[in-house]
Amino acid sequence: MTDKVLVIHGPNLNMLGKREPEQYGTSTLDEINTDLKNHSRKIGLEVDFFQSNHEGAIVEKIQDSRDAYAGLIINPAGYTHSSVAIRDAILLLDMPVIEIHLSNIYKRESFRHHSLMSDVVTGQITGFGAQGYIMALDAISNLLKK
Ligand code: DQA
Repeated sequence: MTDKVLVIHGPNLNMLGKREPEQYGTSTLDEINTDLKNHSRKIGLEVDFFQSNHEGAIVEKIQDSRDAYAGLIINPAGYTHSSVAIRDAILLLDMPVIEIHLSNIYKRESFRHHSLMSDVVTGQITGFGAQGYIMALDAISNLLKK
């Protein structure tokens, strides 16, 4: 059976394309998802997508992913810096989890330098724009082969 990877996009990422393009680039979320879908086929994975602007909805999706997925890619967006609840949900998972940010959070305002997720995920990719999602999928693919 093909391994399935869940991609979670946090708040305001539905506005990509229009949202601070100098920070986040010009790709829309649909374009990022389409590129990920195409790449997943090439490397023999399946991907599902979930976007929400609501913390509880993201927590519930992470809980539900426990038995349904082999890996998780998550851009917690603004919740990166505030959500103990999302951090706790990630701790429920026994699978590779990649935290991703389009911008380099360490080059920005100091409140973005701290991620509540960084020490409970497998690894973090930050600052590579939309390409970072492809890197994250490749990372999960390699981790699942080990
Ligand atoms: C972000 C960085 C966060 O600090 C910010 O709140 C976002 C997007 C990124 O992808 O660069 O919404 O996660």
